[in-house]
Amino acid sequence: MPPTFQSALTARYRTGLPAALNHPAVTGLLGHRSVRSYDSRALPEGTLQTLIAGAQSAATSSDMQAWSVVAVSDEGSRGRLAEMAGNQNHIRQCPLFLVWLADLSRATRVAERAGQSLETTEYLESFVSASIDAALAAQNAVVAAEAMGLGTVYIGAIRNRPLEVAEELGLPLGTVALFGLCVGFEDAAHPAAVKPRLPQSVVLHHNRYSTAGEAESIAAYDEASKAFQSEQGQAVTGWSSRVVARYGTLKALGGRHELAHWLTLRGLNRR
Ligand SMILES: Cc1cc2nc3c(=O)[nH]c(=O)nc-3n(C[C@H](O)[C@H](O)[C@H](O)COP(=O)(O)O)c2cc1C
Repeated sequence: MPPTFQSALTARYRTGLPAALNHPAVTGLLGHRSVRSYDSRALPEGTLQTLIAGAQSAATSSDMQAWSVVAVSDEGSRGRLAEMAGNQNHIRQCPLFLVWLADLSRATRVAERAGQSLETTEYLESFVSASIDAALAAQNAVVAAEAMGLGTVYIGAIRNRPLEVAEELGLPLGTVALFGLCVGFEDAAHPAAVKPRLPQSVVLHHNRYSTAGEAESIAAYDEASKAFQSEQGQAVTGWSSRVVARYGTLKALGGRHELAHWLTLRGLNRR
């Protein structure tokens, strides 16, 4: 049975439910889960085009549409990308792997055709702006996919070995692969669960940033997080210790501490 708005809200927050307004589209958002296990069903014809239509309907900074996406259906290529991204098997398993790019190369080509050159594409502001565009587009595709009964999971680990990814996908200078996205039908034998989020009081600030009550709210959330981890058969650490582990050491970045360097190599980090 599909979840009601209230049951979806409870699954998302577990404790301290916000007084949110019931809306079917929001019920859909509340049901998001990252799916890391796919069955062998092929995607219905037209799925990719539908996802991209959703993606292209997102807002885009100054209408620059400074993103592109590479749809990787080739098994060999998905296998190599899986290996580059920490050997994540779901990249091999899913029928469609989308790699989302910050893309300033198209603007450069547009200018060249007009006999012009561009002063700003190499500056970090352009990269950040293109990255925001790509993330908004990708999330629209995720929402569309979930509405169509498909599962997805983002893959940030393709930034571990960005130059090899660029080579694999034939990316021109002025483009950077930001993250991947697995798309497919979830394997019903291994369903993913809704992961609880921080209480709204922690992330929502009214008029001015405030940390009042934060420690207590995060302590309560750590308990909800531990309950979730235990239900899922994961190591029971809570959320706070994951934050410390993830941000605590350069090693945890899996090579991504070199971001500024490789952006320079990709022609996107002049300042
Ligand atoms: C930009 C980004 C990169 C991510 N990279 C990975 C990844 O490489 N592998 C993976 O299994 N999950 C990845 N995830 C999924 C997150 O781990 C997941 O969204 C988070 O744990 C919350 O779980 P949920 O999506 O099921 O609510 C990524 C998510 C985002 C937004």
